[in-house]
Amino acid sequence: MTDTFVKRIKESANLHSSRLVLALDPLRVKKNDLLKFAKDTVNLLSDHICAVKINFHLLLPLDLYSEVNTITDLAHSHDIQTIADIKLNDISSTNDVALSHLWSAGFDALTMNPFIGFDALRGAIANAHRRGNGIIALVYMSHKSAGDTYGLKVMDSMKRGRHVYELFLDWSEELGADGIVVGATLPEIIKQCSKRVRGRISIFSPGVGAQGGDARKALVSGSDYLIVGRSIIEAKDPEKEASRMQRLTWE
Ligand code: XMP
Repeated sequence: MTDTFVKRIKESANLHSSRLVLALDPLRVKKNDLLKFAKDTVNLLSDHICAVKINFHLLLPLDLYSEVNTITDLAHSHDIQTIADIKLNDISSTNDVALSHLWSAGFDALTMNPFIGFDALRGAIANAHRRGNGIIALVYMSHKSAGDTYGLKVMDSMKRGRHVYELFLDWSEELGADGIVVGATLPEIIKQCSKRVRGRISIFSPGVGAQGGDARKALVSGSDYLIVGRSIIEAKDPEKEASRMQRLTWE
């Protein structure tokens, strides 16, 4: 297996001609049917995606070591990367425990919230890199009230007025994060981040469709990967919708 998450997801994207990350978020599936639903969906959509992102929809009801790990194994058997979307945000010793469980369950990367601060983020990135895995840092979330925090103007340690998201972008670059999340709902912020990182860090953008973001606009503005959940999972024909989104990401 290739040694870093960044390389593996690029390989997977090339193999599948897709920069689409599936948010595997079942909403109307009974608990007993969740595992089957998740596996059927990965099998159905595997030709159209480069990664699958798993959130609390599955992480809370399923057992990590006997159920979730079978989904990550299945994804890997299709050469698809796996991301745990837990937006980890705790003290370093707790983060390390969470990371250790998630790596053991087969995840290649996870999302983290830089609100934990520079040193704590550094510790998590170092932990991930020792395992050849990745940390994707939230820079600006996609939902409507994200501006209440990520958009705030604060004083940094040099007494310069900066937006919180600019600070998080600085830290992500300096610490060698493997990706950043910037909502597809914020094309101007995507442009600004893309100009700054110039391909050195991949931009992952959720918020397409159900949250109102425009896929084409996000990609043209500089998003490297689109994260899409409900508009595929809830579609009448999920494969057709995934294929449509796949083509958009690969134009
Ligand atoms: P939908 O159904 O809106 O699903 O296409 C999006 C998925 O992504 C998660 N999400 C985010 N994750 N930063 C993240 O790390 C964000 O800004 C963000 N916005 C949405 C959401 O929980 C769902 O799994």
